[in-house]
Amino acid sequence: MKILVAITGATGALYAQRLLDNLDPLQHEIHVVLSNYAHQVIAEELPGGLRLPEGVQTHSLKSMNAPFASGSNPPDAMVVIPCTMGTMGRIAHGFSEDVLLRAADVALKEKRKLILVPRETPFSLLHVKNMELLLLAGATILPANPSLYMNPKSVVEVVDTVVARVLDHLGIPNRLAPRWAEEKE
Ligand SMILES: Cc1cc2nc3c(=O)[nH]c(=O)nc-3n(C[C@H](O)[C@H](O)[C@H](O)COP(=O)(O)O)c2cc1C
Repeated sequence: MKILVAITGATGALYAQRLLDNLDPLQHEIHVVLSNYAHQVIAEELPGGLRLPEGVQTHSLKSMNAPFASGSNPPDAMVVIPCTMGTMGRIAHGFSEDVLLRAADVALKEKRKLILVPRETPFSLLHVKNMELLLLAGATILPANPSLYMNPKSVVEVVDTVVARVLDHLGIPNRLAPRWAEEKE
């Protein structure tokens, strides 16, 4: 699969890091693009910065010279993780002025998987209406709402309960987080 991971300036850069840690560039073509504010949040939240696995291709936000900027070469799936309310609103309304937004526009119009992992609390009516628009347009809204019923022991384990659901929706087999009513190994 060709997968585009887009990282925006919401708190929760660790969600993006854990997703990248669990995508195999030998099995998939992995592309990464960061919004301007993603850099700031990564600097606050990830000591040592974002670790990109070898083989991952990064792209400049301002250049449309990326395959997924065109409907002729869309990704199989795009994940915006974490997704700000700003980026969510811009995608919902078809803004395409940088390559991240354009790629989401392409994913929707080409009927490819677009998974948004929004992070905000509380939601305003605008946020909810934008989510409604995106659902109607075919996106998957997979909020950064971790589950706690399996008693995670670390922040990474908490984060992985969300990342496991992202991998599930990408169709990538994983045992990242324990599943309910599954025998413990
Ligand atoms: C430390 C930090 C945490 C933030 N967390 C959130 C958040 O959880 N959700 C959100 O929608 N915006 C959050 N913001 C605000 C966004 O970064 C800001 O709205 C920015 O314009 C979003 O741009 P982008 O969507 O292009 O990344 C945060 C900003 C900072 C500096």
